Amino acid sequence: MYVKKVAVIGAGTMGADIAYTVAMANIPVVLRDVDEKALERAKSHIQKLLDGRVAKGRLSGPDAAQRMSQIVFSADASALKDVSVAIEAVPEKMALKQKVFQELDRLLPPLAILATNTSALSVTEMASVTSRPTRVAGMHFFYPAHMMKLVEIIAGEQTDKDVLDTLSRLSEEIRKIPVAVKECPGFVVNRVLTASMAEVMRFKVEYGYSAEEIDQTIVKHKVAPLGPFVLADALGLDIAWDVAETLQAAYGDRFDPGPELPALVAAHHLGVKTGQGFYPYSRS
Ligand SMILES: NC(=O)c1ccc[n+]([C@@H]2O[C@H](COP(=O)([O-])OP(=O)(O)OC[C@H]3O[C@@H](n4cnc5c(N)ncnc54)[C@H](O)[C@@H]3O)[C@@H](O)[C@H]2O)c1
Repeated sequence: MYVKKVAVIGAGTMGADIAYTVAMANIPVVLRDVDEKALERAKSHIQKLLDGRVAKGRLSGPDAAQRMSQIVFSADASALKDVSVAIEAVPEKMALKQKVFQELDRLLPPLAILATNTSALSVTEMASVTSRPTRVAGMHFFYPAHMMKLVEIIAGEQTDKDVLDTLSRLSEEIRKIPVAVKECPGFVVNRVLTASMAEVMRFKVEYGYSAEEIDQTIVKHKVAPLGPFVLADALGLDIAWDVAETLQAAYGDRFDPGPELPALVAAHHLGVKTGQGFYPYSRS
């Protein structure tokens, strides 16, 4: 199937980067959010990414302006009517995602593909509320989506093969590496990542270390390019907790991150996006 226009639903941490990545491949994209402020933040984030490329000599000024012109920032559902592929990136709650899928099903052409960027939830459950379960699949990007190459492509129970082929081709067109993975809670990468995050979060509390001590040690010894607490703050602690809860329910206590993560989320300290997480941030 030829993809002439993409929609990204949810202009948060992931949605903004996904829209930028699609626009960089010169594919028109509608970035939709119910929150006008989220759209404004996404626009200035994307502008900064484009300016960064221009400053490094990787993109000309006119090309940067042309890529920006590929993106329609919209709170209005009518902008979605001629979209070929929608990528849903709203918060990690099944009820909300199902509501979004029902709306997309109503608005988009019958053959359009409805994809979810869910980290851990069931694609089949999202597909079940639509009239087109064969055209629903997972297309799971990784943070930060404008840099990370991997995209997990997930079939629900009824997904057509041509939908998976189209999403794999689209991934390649936007310079990603698609990998087909089986549907199960957390797919592949988040099962590994969430189990290790849970272990290090419990370790922190058990031994009384600070986030800085652990992060600095991990970076100093080149175990990973970023410390786990810096990474968790950047991903969003609400998302990290939602995923940990889903995986705990599916697989048990090895995904229990201990008391600190849910306490931060309950206090609405969600990391970089709220200005406080394991670390404080000044919001510009
Ligand atoms: N943060 C990550 O590192 C990461 C990585 C991979 C996948 N994901 C997944 O991507 C999805 C989004 O995560 P995020 O971190 O970008 O969340 P986020 O909280 O940063 O952004 C979500 C956005 O969705 C918007 N929204 C809420 N309801 C909406 C609706 N009905 N219609 C349109 N927009 C709506 C919100 O206003 C917000 O701007 C989640 O399913 C998450 O699990 C996140």
